[in-house]
Amino acid sequence: MRLIKSIKRDIQAVFEHDPAVRNVWEIILAYPGFHARQFHRIAHTLWNWHIPVLPRLLSHLNRFLTGIEIHPGAKIGEGFFIDHGMAVVIGETTEIGNNVVLYQGVTLGGTSLRREKRHPTLGNNVVVGAGARLIGAITIGDNVKIGTGSVVIKSVPHNATVIGVPGRVVEVRDPDMDTVEKLPDPVGEKLQNLEKRVAELEERLASLGVGQSVEKFKAAVDPSSSEETGEGT
Ligand SMILES: CC(C)(COP(=O)(O)OP(=O)(O)OC[C@H]1O[C@@H](n2cnc3c(N)ncnc32)[C@H](O)[C@@H]1OP(=O)(O)O)[C@@H](O)C(=O)NCCC(=O)NCCS
Repeated sequence: MRLIKSIKRDIQAVFEHDPAVRNVWEIILAYPGFHARQFHRIAHTLWNWHIPVLPRLLSHLNRFLTGIEIHPGAKIGEGFFIDHGMAVVIGETTEIGNNVVLYQGVTLGGTSLRREKRHPTLGNNVVVGAGARLIGAITIGDNVKIGTGSVVIKSVPHNATVIGVPGRVVEVRDPDMDTVEKLPDPVGEKLQNLEKRVAELEERLASLGVGQSVEKFKAAVDPSSSEETGEGT
């Protein structure tokens, strides 16, 4: 009974996320993402029963038929939808929450070669755009959107939108108010980088023994700075 409810939830997810779908039969007969998910249910159950080889064989067959590779060990929540699907790879220690959507070409991959948690953990209501790569044991918060073609190598907070290579947070929404809490600030970021760079250069000059000359130069350019430090008298 729980299984049927869960499969129905997968079908509902397609209706929620794909405006191209017309009826249930299309989903049952012609949606590789739906097929891949159902194959994975069986493979994952066998994997949990510690049956050797067969789960991997099913996963391989799944890949052959749908172009979607899901390791039998991956844990997937309710209402999961892979749109189009080709070239999606989901690694062994991946954990996916409820109502998650992946588009074609998404990789949820590992970076470590050790047998440990090495793939991403996705929260609930996450959307991962086509061709995005999420690598390593990172955590993606609830309600996160990841832009097409992004490469995400760091954890992402709840309600954020991430784009780019490497992926950076460009927006954090307030889910209750439906407003944006944080907007990108490229000018502010540039200023911060410049400040950091100046501090580094000052440190390097000081280490070269020209620190006093720098202070004299600063005092000449901006006398107020020497008053603050009490120097230059
Ligand atoms: C990232 C994404 C979720 C953002 O959606 P959104 O919240 O509606 O935001 P917007 O589309 O208004 O974009 C916000 C900004 O990010 C930029 N942007 C959006 N997606 C981007 C991406 N993948 N790479 C780089 N920049 C991107 C937009 O140009 C815009 O910049 P601006 O504010 O300077 O104009 C969405 O653009 C996306 O990539 N969705 C995946 C869709 C997909 O893979 N479809 C496949 C169908 S087959």
